[in-house]
Amino acid sequence: MTTPANTSVQTLSALIQHMPKAELHIHIEGSLEPELIFALAQRNGVSLPYADVAALRSAYAFTNLQSFLDLYYAGASVLLHEADFYDMAWGYFERAAADHVVRAELFFDPQTHTARGVPMGVVIEGLHRACQDAQTKLGISADLILCFLRHLSEEEAIETLQAALPWRDRFIGVGLDSSEVGHPPEKFARVFAQARALGLHVVAHAGEEGPPAYIWSALDVLQVERIDHGVQAIHDPALMQRLAQSRVPLTVCPLSNLKLCVFGRLEDHNLKHMLDAGLCVTINSDDPAYFGGYLNDNYRHTFAALNLNAQHAKTLAANSIQASFANDADKQQWLRELDACFAAA
Ligand code: ADE
Ligand code: ZN
Repeated sequence: MTTPANTSVQTLSALIQHMPKAELHIHIEGSLEPELIFALAQRNGVSLPYADVAALRSAYAFTNLQSFLDLYYAGASVLLHEADFYDMAWGYFERAAADHVVRAELFFDPQTHTARGVPMGVVIEGLHRACQDAQTKLGISADLILCFLRHLSEEEAIETLQAALPWRDRFIGVGLDSSEVGHPPEKFARVFAQARALGLHVVAHAGEEGPPAYIWSALDVLQVERIDHGVQAIHDPALMQRLAQSRVPLTVCPLSNLKLCVFGRLEDHNLKHMLDAGLCVTINSDDPAYFGGYLNDNYRHTFAALNLNAQHAKTLAANSIQASFANDADKQQWLRELDACFAAA
């Protein structure tokens, strides 16, 4: 690699474009672009409280997580049939391929759909078929992670896990998302224990808006393998030390944090501090249709705002690959491709 700190902006942008990378924090319902929302609404005879795409897009001005979630759940109401779930995920995979994503682990929220009468199998089979096509047609390795909505009860999460078990081979893990504050990880201790006993991977959103205590309990009670977001860890030195020592990965989503006002400006984001402190940080898009950018947009904006260099790019891509739940042979192959990409720079 050439002297990383001196790499030109163009070279850095090209490296970000071409380096193989994994996306580990993408809510597939958050990839529904307004155009697709309107197309699916028309296809399914669903009426929307917005006149057109422009009117919907102009409503994307969020003040916090809840103000976004209200719109996000409304947008998902157009998803009814297996083809809808397939089309949504396929749209994401085409964009991911353009960003040279080699591995994608997709969150999905079954309760958002089953509550509207959509059968679990319709959701999972549509998404699974898109994952299969991502591998065969685009060369993207993809898997699904089933998320529980934390504003609902643990009993409902347990029922959801049970309802999904006929498709146990169609998802690799469980996660925890939706409104964080007031819904600490320990509320879901039993359902996560059940998921672990089933051999599922476990992750959870913690420390997006919620306090460091939620990150501690995600680690110690839920025994998660990755923390989604985790940016509030910065306020707790002992937690920072724990995360640095354990190298439990954080799936950080800079443009999401900006749009949901977790940080006032991208220049104020703490991603570089966390990297400097030795944490295993990754960059992700969260809900790209709502937050103004897919994965490489997140890299590019963050690199510009925080003045990051080629060495950071390589570290972040390597972290994403190592933190993924892909098999070791695939990880080694992508890491070799990453080395080659930087050797040629
Ligand atoms: N669901 C979709 N996006 C989310 C986020 N950023 N935080 C919590 N739940 C979500
Ligand atoms: Zn998220």
